[in-house]
Amino acid sequence: MLADKDRIFTNVYGFQPWNLPAAMKRGDWDNTKALMALGQDAIIDVIKASGLRGRGGAGFPTGTKWSFMPKEPKADRPNFLVINADESEPGSCKDREIIRHDPHKLIEGALIAGFAMRARAAYIYIRGEYIREAETLFAAVAEAYDAGLIGKNASGSGYDFDVFVHRGAGAYICGEETAMLESLEGKKGQPRLKPPFPAGAGLYGCPTTVNNVESIAVAPTILRRGASWFSSFGRENNKGTKLYQISGHVNRPCVVEDAMGLTFRELIETHCGGIRGGWDNLLAVIPGGSSVPLVPAKDIIDAPMDFDGLKAVGSGLGTAAVIVMDKSTDIVRAISRISYFYKHESCGQCTPCREGTGWMWRVMERLRTGDAEIAEIDTLHQVTKQVEGHTICALGDAAAWPIQGLIRHFRPELERRINERSCGGLAPMQEAAE
Ligand code: NAI
Ligand code: SF4
Repeated sequence: MLADKDRIFTNVYGFQPWNLPAAMKRGDWDNTKALMALGQDAIIDVIKASGLRGRGGAGFPTGTKWSFMPKEPKADRPNFLVINADESEPGSCKDREIIRHDPHKLIEGALIAGFAMRARAAYIYIRGEYIREAETLFAAVAEAYDAGLIGKNASGSGYDFDVFVHRGAGAYICGEETAMLESLEGKKGQPRLKPPFPAGAGLYGCPTTVNNVESIAVAPTILRRGASWFSSFGRENNKGTKLYQISGHVNRPCVVEDAMGLTFRELIETHCGGIRGGWDNLLAVIPGGSSVPLVPAKDIIDAPMDFDGLKAVGSGLGTAAVIVMDKSTDIVRAISRISYFYKHESCGQCTPCREGTGWMWRVMERLRTGDAEIAEIDTLHQVTKQVEGHTICALGDAAAWPIQGLIRHFRPELERRINERSCGGLAPMQEAAE
């Protein structure tokens, strides 16, 4: 278990106020000018050496991403930092806690990251439904301006840096980085084709880095405590500490910071009081938010909770939103509900996703009630393969993978429902997922 002294987010439960005086007592904004005096390239080198990988789900190395930005931005083509606070992945709620209780870690991180990548300003794009969190963030940014920490001559560093907060309007797809840029520009939030990546052509066509809230908020502590401190947690390629969000059938659901790579069993025993009804009652886990495949109980229990450990069991760390399902779960219904979510949130721009998500959900509903043919299980699997990798953004993959996981691990359950239904033996249909 991570020692209290090694936690970055010391106010994640809000036991202390979020405001500037309290944040300063916790060590935020402590001689930020001296951190910036390290120099832009040196800051990027520290973040690279720490092994920090993006905490928004994809795990791209953060320091490497920052290094893509032009070192001599043109006056009419400035660099921008965009911070993705559009946390909408089902199961994810860590960025919400950072913004609620530790917003100054994010704002100080924005200044340091923005400075390192020679950005003119940071835009924090916050999920529309996070109403109270947005209020906190606006107030914290105002505090930082009033104290001279950001704005002209930010923190006395001689560097001018603005932070703008922008509220989303409730579309999941605006969390996709290029849809977010479109939305910030005042357009309909639809993903762009990549490449070009935002580092080449991002906000208003200018070089832009899009980073998750947690990735930015940990940067000041990494600089203060050193790359080797951060990389002493976890294992090769999976370094540092991480906010895990555990929901579902555990005795104490929570958001908690711990080292990367602890096993699922350690995570649940240490922080959640075990599985509801005991370990024999565990059915399956979605370990990284709804976009990653489920893992059956037998495969997840001893799996390291990091990028490689969860890849090895056919899933992923994603946002580390750990959704635990015990044996009372109707697993087919659960995945069908996720399918409905992706159908609802598809922006409709590309055919495999627009048509495929609806088609997959309708078949999932018939599998849920048993009103399908056995052969349709394979047809559904083939359709998920035709959607996966054939769309503009990752939403198509995210819609396909949960279904693939269900078929891979719970095919007998799908067949049982169809067989019992054809014998007239299944319980009455439940209401539609809508
Ligand atoms: P991605 O792998 O396409 O990109 C990751 C990042 O690396 C992006 O910022 C991209 O611009 C950058 N990048 C990748 N290759 C690059 C290159 N050659 N040159 C320059 N930059 C490059 O993944 P994506 O689509 O950004 O994220 C998908 C993940 O997001 C999923 O795995 C899912 O877990 C997560 N997700 C998180 C949500 C949340 O609420 N936090 C919501 C939905 C999905
Ligand atoms: Fe839109 Fe879906 Fe295509 Fe992404 S994959 S661009 S959400 S239609």
